[in-house]
Amino acid sequence: MRAHVVTFGCQMNEYDTHAIQSELAGIGYSFVDDYREADLVLVNTCAVRGKPVEKAQTLLGELRKEKQRRRGAMTVGLMGCLAQLPEGRRMGEKFAVDIMLGPGAITEIVPAIERGKFQSFDFKNELQFYTPPPPRDAVSAHLTIMRGCNHRCTYCIVPQTRGPEVSRPVEDILNEARLLAAASVAEVTLLGQNVNSYGLADGIGTRRKQLAGYPSFAELLRMVGRVGIPRVRFVTSHPVNFDDEIIEAIADTPAVCRFIHLPVQSGSNRILKRMAREYTREFYLDRVRRLREMLPDATISTDIIAGFPGETEEDFEETLSLYREVRYDAAYMFIYSEREGTPAQVHFEDVPRAVKTERLGRLVELQKEVSFEQNQQWVGREVEVLVKGAADEAGFVQGHTRGNHVTIIKGNLAPGIHHTTVVQATPNRLYCEAAGVESQGPALARRELRVISLPII
Ligand code: 5AD
Ligand code: SF4
Repeated sequence: MRAHVVTFGCQMNEYDTHAIQSELAGIGYSFVDDYREADLVLVNTCAVRGKPVEKAQTLLGELRKEKQRRRGAMTVGLMGCLAQLPEGRRMGEKFAVDIMLGPGAITEIVPAIERGKFQSFDFKNELQFYTPPPPRDAVSAHLTIMRGCNHRCTYCIVPQTRGPEVSRPVEDILNEARLLAAASVAEVTLLGQNVNSYGLADGIGTRRKQLAGYPSFAELLRMVGRVGIPRVRFVTSHPVNFDDEIIEAIADTPAVCRFIHLPVQSGSNRILKRMAREYTREFYLDRVRRLREMLPDATISTDIIAGFPGETEEDFEETLSLYREVRYDAAYMFIYSEREGTPAQVHFEDVPRAVKTERLGRLVELQKEVSFEQNQQWVGREVEVLVKGAADEAGFVQGHTRGNHVTIIKGNLAPGIHHTTVVQATPNRLYCEAAGVESQGPALARRELRVISLPII
């Protein structure tokens, strides 16, 4: 029995795909890279923006054709965030998929396959306790510490697709971390929609109580930091409860990487309010100030949405000015994508596409300029790189630093941690040399610099 699993979207989905594959392997499936060779094809979808939804739709169309060609002798499953939504269920019906499971029901995959036709959109409690086996031969792994989101950002579909926040019991998290350490994994990324809300009782905002028997996120970081995995990272932090206790835990725990992804979304108070982000520009900048004070060498990245409904030129310029003030090392930038059933879609009018695209272009230019300057500061410094494998350029390997900089190193270095020196930097990469290996990084960097006017997304 051969399966092919396609993953769209975020790291949560990658983790879920790993869990799904572990369940399939348990009943004897092997995995193939081409759906034309598979008996079972599962599509683990993302619904956060229109693009991944379109990609899933195209793939489901191809799969329907393939299934017709085989006279029905193939099982197709639609899983993940899109499956949870009316939009996804309509798509599932249209393309005659056999299995539909929402992101809270992935542990039902085995009974679903046994029945042949099955749907479930429940949020299963056992998923909270599910511990997949460590990935084989991987140097880096994900570990889910909580699921769902209690916030109500007006543009976002996630609260509908992944349900309310549920934290995993601390013993399960530590157990999984110990398994990863025993498997010699060099880096673990703790995952959650809002990791800072780990172990908090129902509600939103800054006054939520800690649940009995659960540590705070800061305490959890210290605990995972002691397990013996050399690098511990986490995503995503919501600025509203990214408190000093967390910054202190990062500062005190050597294994925890000084890399913080802190989505700001907009620099305008008027737009932040419309987005229901629960903080102001001033509050956000104060968090960054504290972070810089306590962790001067930390790298900071963010998410920004350009062209949210009602965003004026002045609002957008406030985003650009905040960007310059924070001096982000990296950013994920998106044009606003209207999602069916979100408060923004119901109440606000979309900005013309040309305006959104133009603003995104300016933001990307600024990101390149600032990242270039930030990255230049690393030239000549020693950095620890976690090599993950071959780079696109022959004879080079690719990895990332503790600050999440993408790095390119000359030579056939084995996957794992290496100590290197930065010899050249571009907006999106550091070129490094490992002792004893002559580098051609500068030549590659020059080539890359010639093409940096291309948009990165
Ligand atoms: N349109 C554009 N970007 C979005 N994001 C979430 N919802 C939308 C949307 N409707 C972005 C946010 C979030 C990231 C994961 O995706 O920036 O932080
Ligand atoms: Fe979406 Fe906001 Fe929750 Fe993030 S915090 S998942 S953007 S609703």
